[in-house]
Amino acid sequence: MNQKHHIVFFTGAGISQESGIETFRDTNGLWHNHKVEDIASKDGFEKNPQVVLDFYNQRREVVEKAQPNLAHNLIASLEDRYKVSVITQNVDDLHERAGSSNVMHLHGELNKCRSSKNSHLIYPYTGSLKVGDLAEDGSQLRPHIVWFGEEVVEIEKAIEITQTADLFIIIGTSMVVQPAGSLLLSVPVDAQTVYIDLNPDVEDGINLLVLKEKATVGMKQLVEDYLPY
Ligand code: OAD
Repeated sequence: MNQKHHIVFFTGAGISQESGIETFRDTNGLWHNHKVEDIASKDGFEKNPQVVLDFYNQRREVVEKAQPNLAHNLIASLEDRYKVSVITQNVDDLHERAGSSNVMHLHGELNKCRSSKNSHLIYPYTGSLKVGDLAEDGSQLRPHIVWFGEEVVEIEKAIEITQTADLFIIIGTSMVVQPAGSLLLSVPVDAQTVYIDLNPDVEDGINLLVLKEKATVGMKQLVEDYLPY
């Protein structure tokens, strides 16, 4: 591996777990305590907008207080030596705060909000959204989050990035949400894939190394063993 090589990271909630942000599907994860259709769908928002706004207001508060962990930091530090792209399903900004400069958010971002009529009217946002907070077009502001049933507009770009990977590193995702979970199919056949997860449901295979570890431990091991200075 050298500076010309492209490392593509594909991250999920598990990478931010050690920063104190709950995952979705682990025991006591967010989806165990809430009905997905109530808080992560357009229907849920139309039925009970303040409940949905409050859910994301609380998420925003948690993320504001959280700090990037060693896994986020190591990913950022690899930019000194390689071309690095990060494709994340996470709506937190911990990759950016760790210093990664090339981050794509497939499922939106907590620190942005948008018009509920026009998905292109997006604003930076910190604070607590309320019913009655309006976009320029007069519609209710909503979190800039891709809800179930909505289009993942960035997926084509994510596929293109993945197709140029020399090394594809997946961290902390159950890989069950589509289309994100199918990105693996776009990894070039001669590229190596590494999957770091506390509870992976696959084993090592051809061009696939599985590290059953926490994100911080797995990333440290990966950098020391495969990407040393
Ligand atoms: P999940 O909650 O589905 O999966 C989290 C993964 O992280 C699991 O595979 C865990 O084993 C692993 N994990 C937990 N703690 C870990 C740690 N400290 N280190 C490493 N791995 C750990 O979260 P995602 O796969 O990210 O979408 O979920 C995908 C999407 O589902 C989310 O983006 C969200 C959700 O619905 C939207 O909200 C649109």
